[in-house]
Amino acid sequence: MAVEMYWRDEKVEVWKGDSLELVRGLADRRFDAVVTDPPYSSGGMFRSDRAQKTGSKYVLSKKNSRREYPEFEGDNRDQRGLLAWSGLWLTECWRVTRPGGCLLCFCDWRNIPVMSDAIQCGGWVWRGVVPWDKTEGARPQKGWFRAQAEYVLTATRGGIGREQSRNGPCLPGVFRENVDSANKLHMTGKPVRLMRSLMEVVRPGGEVLDPFAGSGTTALAAKETGRRCVTCDNSAENLALIPPRMARAKAREDAVQDGLALGV
Ligand SMILES: C[S@@+](CC[C@H](N)C(=O)[O-])C[C@H]1O[C@@H](n2cnc3c(N)ncnc32)[C@H](O)[C@@H]1O
Repeated sequence: MAVEMYWRDEKVEVWKGDSLELVRGLADRRFDAVVTDPPYSSGGMFRSDRAQKTGSKYVLSKKNSRREYPEFEGDNRDQRGLLAWSGLWLTECWRVTRPGGCLLCFCDWRNIPVMSDAIQCGGWVWRGVVPWDKTEGARPQKGWFRAQAEYVLTATRGGIGREQSRNGPCLPGVFRENVDSANKLHMTGKPVRLMRSLMEVVRPGGEVLDPFAGSGTTALAAKETGRRCVTCDNSAENLALIPPRMARAKAREDAVQDGLALGV
């Protein structure tokens, strides 16, 4: 599938097509950070569970789910396939990140080992795991621990950039944020508040790459916090969620500006 421009404004570029192909065409050292949420190839305990459709793996009860979410592809690689494929796109992401820039990559507990290997295969300096605590609203498991966390794997291209390590903010080592189902547009969508907090690793005005857009949450958080973002997805149904979402954000921003102009 050829990669083509799908939508853009002054801060965000959304591309349609295969993310590896997109990133292969981007210039060396362009981005301040890669912040992304790739298909986890996870769900369930056994290989057969993981090969199911995404809706069976990630929507626990269709009856209780607020929305019907589109299925998405690329989520049933086995461990070796996930390692090989992630090594490819993470290597390209390393190339397009400036020295000192960083990678934040979402993952669930099952694939922390394989994804931390893939990150290092890609040339990144592995810097550990920041848990996303989904709070007590997350799924309880009778006789077992609540499925309460997902993880952000962190890495940098070489050392942490000098400006960031001297003047950047001190960030939390754990983020506590509920899943915000009311505003979740993608089956595995991340809360905008969480993504806005993560943007603090990127200098104001900096540029972020998210090769796996889904409903465009990273791009929205980048835009709302004064960063720029290039993002991509290969699903027409997911891409279609992004322009209206950006338009709603713009309308909210305009309303705030109007309110400020009127002194209310
Ligand atoms: C985990 S979801 C991202 C969800 C996103 N963080 C959000 O908040 O909406 C991963 C996305 O990657 C997309 N995807 C999977 N394989 C891809 C590929 N090879 N190229 C581009 N997009 C891909 C899927 O369509 C899916 O929407």
